[in-house]
Amino acid sequence: MGAMMSAETTTVSQEVAALYDHDPAHLIAMLQEIQKRNRNRYLPRPELESLAAVLQIPVTRVFRIATFFKAFNLEPKGEHMISLCLGTACHVRGAARVLEAFAGELKISGGGTTADLKFSLETVNCVGACALGPVAVIDDAYYGELEPEKVPELLKQFR
Ligand code: FES
Repeated sequence: MGAMMSAETTTVSQEVAALYDHDPAHLIAMLQEIQKRNRNRYLPRPELESLAAVLQIPVTRVFRIATFFKAFNLEPKGEHMISLCLGTACHVRGAARVLEAFAGELKISGGGTTADLKFSLETVNCVGACALGPVAVIDDAYYGELEPEKVPELLKQFR
């Protein structure tokens, strides 16, 4: 019975903490690694609790770091990330209507994720392709000269 008890499954946090010699000075790097290993690019609460336990630091310290940096997500992200530009150049070319089309098609609002975790939608400020506005970046690829009518066809490629 005792032997079976010791065969606990290792959490991602435990593995990652070991990579950094369990040194809390590397807390940010550990959180980056945990998020990177997560399929939905976020920091699940149980992992944060597990990390605090294995590093023997207060869980509040881990949460403070995880919530302070914008790069960390506490909610799961969609498989495909859609970043729609609402910068000035895109805005004057009708980006707001394109945003409405994305939100309507995906049934989510800006910053949200679809229930099936397939897509996340966020708005950004200028992605450096103003001449092509309105622009969306989907999984690192740029899609320019967007119009609301083009959105359903565009999304079809990712479904
Ligand atoms: S304002 Fe949209 S790319 Fe520059």
